[in-house]
Amino acid sequence: MPEPHIDAISSHPWVERAWHTGADEVVIQPRAEALAVHPVLGPLVREHLEHWSEVYEWIYRTSDTAQPADLDLSGWRASDTGEPLPREHMVDWIDRTVELVREAKPRCVLELGCGSGLLLRHLHADVERYVGTDVSEVVVERLRAAALSGVRPVIAAAHELGSPQVVEALSGRRPDCVLLNSVTQCFPGGDYLDAVVGAALELVSDGGRVIVGDFRHAGLADRYYRWLEPDDEAAALRAAADEEFVFDPRLLARIAARATRPVSVSVRAKTMAADTELTRYRCDVVLHVSAEPAPRPAVVAWHTLTGDRLTAARALVEAGPVVVSGIPHALLEDDPEGVRPHVLRACLAGTGAIVGLDLDHPTRLQVCPPTGTPAGEILPPSDATTQEPLTRFVAHRLPEVVRDHLHRMLPGVTPPALTVAYGRNAR
Ligand SMILES: C[S@@+](CC[C@H](N)C(=O)[O-])C[C@H]1O[C@@H](n2cnc3c(N)ncnc32)[C@H](O)[C@@H]1O
Repeated sequence: MPEPHIDAISSHPWVERAWHTGADEVVIQPRAEALAVHPVLGPLVREHLEHWSEVYEWIYRTSDTAQPADLDLSGWRASDTGEPLPREHMVDWIDRTVELVREAKPRCVLELGCGSGLLLRHLHADVERYVGTDVSEVVVERLRAAALSGVRPVIAAAHELGSPQVVEALSGRRPDCVLLNSVTQCFPGGDYLDAVVGAALELVSDGGRVIVGDFRHAGLADRYYRWLEPDDEAAALRAAADEEFVFDPRLLARIAARATRPVSVSVRAKTMAADTELTRYRCDVVLHVSAEPAPRPAVVAWHTLTGDRLTAARALVEAGPVVVSGIPHALLEDDPEGVRPHVLRACLAGTGAIVGLDLDHPTRLQVCPPTGTPAGEILPPSDATTQEPLTRFVAHRLPEVVRDHLHRMLPGVTPPALTVAYGRNAR
């Protein structure tokens, strides 16, 4: 292989270095700047974000305009059948999420990736200001046209939460709730999540909350693929084709532990009644910023409760702050003692306790106070528990870009096979 190939490849501004691994094979290592999320987005990260904004722009442009504005379910389809998720289930999903946001009675909400406004349309009347941002121009224009009271729609990506347009829409106020619901799956990976959630934690007012809702739990990813495809090989293919950012809630605790103010972390199970992928494999995390320190609850194991355990758990919660741990999630564990999350929620109604998810065993539920655990007390996840879409994106996109560059630099010369050293396959 003549060296001009290597020189030409290395001259591309997104390439750090390139080297031969065989006669006609070259490995390329991207430059850190091309992958940066801060202070400016690198071009590969920007392209990844553009990919998702194009996906959603298309979904919204082609959506059925006959849907009621407050129940525009465009894009909400089951992964196994491709069919729309049942309407009653989505209504339950909205109700539960609206309930989660209302829990702390916010007055000023900033929602990053607000979409068609499924949550915003139910929440704006309760608050003084609701700023909804999205990368899709279509939905932002539709929300502007709706002229809902207190609502300021802004075209902005999640990492632009401190941009002049967002600051202006907030009228200089600090939100007491920053909401990222069902949007992190479009993120390129942990660095972007870190940049967005880190900035949200700095922006939110004292005592406020950052809610990262409805994301797929990495600790349940293998079960999810097996639920979609009982066959091993087909499940592995599903996993290999997965384009979404899937992460462990402990990643949010690691980000929160670096915030300049104390943050406590509450991990919630989804508690809709229907047995769907949303109820099984997703969760919500609430990050409380500078909240009053909560008394440390006693911990009681579910299997030690006697009689009707649900009644016993409720009686414990009514007596004082307590965590009832180790409750098998009936949709995820084949255990006769298992409980469905919505049954547990109904049993706790009016107590203030919530249905949590065990950080170490995501197939186990917990009954706990809504306040959560100080972020610094939560052990960080291993890197293996995160699925970074940017790695896969770079693996196909960078060779495409470099091949075009080679065609321009060395016209008529056949380019070598190109592979990328980045992420887990880096040297
Ligand atoms: C599944 S919808 C969720 C909408 C809304 N949050 C909800 O819970 O109903 C995801 C939305 O996130 C937007 N989105 C995707 N990537 C984004 C990003 N990096 N920043 C802001 N919005 C983004 C999409 O355009 C889409 O409207």
